[in-house]
Amino acid sequence: MSVGSVVLPTDPGVAMLHVEGVSKRFGGVQALSEVGLSIAPGSVHGLIGPNGAGKTTFFNVITGLVLADKGRFELSGLRYKPSAVHKVAQAGIARTFQNIRLFADMSVLDNVRVGRHVRTRVGWWQALLRTRAFKREESAIAGDAMALLDFVGLADQAHRTARTLSYGDQRRLEIARALATEPRLLALDEPAAGMNATEKVALRELIERIRAQGRTILLIEHDVKLVMGLCDRVTVLDQGRLIAEGTPAEVQCNQAVIEAYLGSAAQATHAP
Ligand SMILES: Nc1ncnc2c1ncn2[C@@H]1O[C@H](COP(=O)(O)OP(=O)(O)O)[C@@H](O)[C@H]1O
Ligand SMILES: [Mg+2]
Repeated sequence: MSVGSVVLPTDPGVAMLHVEGVSKRFGGVQALSEVGLSIAPGSVHGLIGPNGAGKTTFFNVITGLVLADKGRFELSGLRYKPSAVHKVAQAGIARTFQNIRLFADMSVLDNVRVGRHVRTRVGWWQALLRTRAFKREESAIAGDAMALLDFVGLADQAHRTARTLSYGDQRRLEIARALATEPRLLALDEPAAGMNATEKVALRELIERIRAQGRTILLIEHDVKLVMGLCDRVTVLDQGRLIAEGTPAEVQCNQAVIEAYLGSAAQATHAP
């Protein structure tokens, strides 16, 4: 499965995710306004912008958690309709949440097993009858889940209850659970939030290893150093609109971006 194995190469000329004209309004708030972007396969693509810019809404829309008012969506060149979370997961997009969403009272290992079930083959009736195929698959799932915990550095925590993990470890567990669905596109919503400097270094290294598996990564992150160090390209949102797109170097010296976001981010970094 996903660990060690590599995602099948896709046509480098076809975007992993391509969206056009994505809009979403909540009451009086235009959370997304005609947003379009293309993410190259195998790349790390950053999505940045001030709070309330629409970044999380963009994740919610592409993963089927929130229905867009309009928009065109393509995954690896194929049209898809992000209308249901499980269908999007099967199509190959997985995500983590800004506000961690784990099964807090379940074990660390079981949290990953749940993610793995998106890819299981045996039917519910086999589970009910506990057929041999079902048992074989269950033990394969447990093995795969353990390998994924090892991959994110949590193997020694497998039997703890998820809620007892440190904040940084809970974020890594969410990544393991997302990887269990074998995504082609992994969308991470502020994965470094609440992490200390050492954890951030480990996170960066983990994201590099996920990319090395051939996966494509979409990253929302406020840590400018992390974003600029990791990303091949960066898209900047402000008040639901795309205000810039380019390489980290291009985006960093874009006047509109500095005014809307980087200026205040830099101030925040230097604040006492
Ligand atoms: N489910 C929702 N219901 C109502 N308003 C929402 C909802 N989700 C997001 N919003 C609003 O949409 C805007 C964009 O929010 P969000 O996508 O969370 O921004 P970001 O992740 O960039 O901080 C904000 O004004 C937010 O209050
Ligand atoms: Mg957000």
